[in-house]
Amino acid sequence: MLQLVEPEQLRGALLAWFDRCRRDLPWRRTRDPYGILVAEIMLQQTRSEVVATRYRGFLERFPDVDALAEAPVESVEAAWSGLGYYRRARNLHRTARILAERGALPASAAEWAELPGVGAYTSALLASRCCGESSPVLDGNVERVLSRFLAATQAPRRAAARRNLLATAARLLDPGRPGDSNQALMEVGSLVCRRGRPDCGACPLAPGCRAFHSPRLDPRAFPVAGPRRAREVRHCFTAVVRQGEDLLLHRRPGDADWLAGRWHLPTVELASGDESTRAAEALGREFGGCWECDEPAALVRHAVTYRDFLVRAAIARWRPERRPEESTGDRVPAEGSALAWFGREEIEGLPTSSLLRKTLDSVGVNCADPPIHSGP
Ligand code: ADE
Repeated sequence: MLQLVEPEQLRGALLAWFDRCRRDLPWRRTRDPYGILVAEIMLQQTRSEVVATRYRGFLERFPDVDALAEAPVESVEAAWSGLGYYRRARNLHRTARILAERGALPASAAEWAELPGVGAYTSALLASRCCGESSPVLDGNVERVLSRFLAATQAPRRAAARRNLLATAARLLDPGRPGDSNQALMEVGSLVCRRGRPDCGACPLAPGCRAFHSPRLDPRAFPVAGPRRAREVRHCFTAVVRQGEDLLLHRRPGDADWLAGRWHLPTVELASGDESTRAAEALGREFGGCWECDEPAALVRHAVTYRDFLVRAAIARWRPERRPEESTGDRVPAEGSALAWFGREEIEGLPTSSLLRKTLDSVGVNCADPPIHSGP
């Protein structure tokens, strides 16, 4: 029979390890809930090395909730440049407006979870760090650490397995320092209990770890893989329209199911066999005006989580529907739609995506110098 140390008895060792070994990251030095909120939203989908390059600049530009709430959303998006997933910037801005109006910060995970862009994971983490609530969190790192700790036989995505992992995370939380306990578990996952090279000799949880102590188990076999989600193929047609140095872009709706809120080339979804005349009709229905498309110059493949976008990109021309006497010159604004012309430098400050750069490259429109800041 294996004699394993109970999770509650490892709380002290976990925190002692964290105090000794943690990386010195700027968001770990602050106790200001606003600074912590900004960091945790940035860290939701961006690696800490990247967040570290943007975090201080963002706080200098928007030092507190009121400054963020009073700023125009476009300036918040511009300061988010390089972090990707710009929906987070817009949600953070909405959150700041709610908090500024209320004049008080949330006092529990349940209250944090009512704010835009703050889901179960972030609300628990914020409550543990800002309110001293013993609310455990599971991110990818913690799932791996605890799957090994328990030698869990089910994939962490399954509800029963998740409940088990969360219960174990809760047992490892020190009620005096729950925020540090949560961060310590994440840090163990980042620095010690790594995916391919776990360093079990350095792990503060080793005395209770089932995968480490069972001679027939290899910690690297955990977490076990769940069934794969079926991939979804989306066929799109993208129009690359230029006017001199300017490019016609479209701001995608905030509730779009991909590239939400981002500026991108005008794009429609089409059946795979449809040709350019059908694409021109679809672009007209979607964006208004009169479209003319060449045959696609390139096929761009773009994978986002479980979706594969197959994008046919073509050079195209577009005229807004207006009589010539109404013309306002070269840069005709695209009235009544979310279309607009942008110069290369202007594009730099916009929330865009790597698909924009990929597509432009594929049709030979050079936008690599200077680079367009883009999300993943
Ligand atoms: N990932 C997200 N937030 C984190 C934090 N505060 N510490 C370590 N990893 C994190």
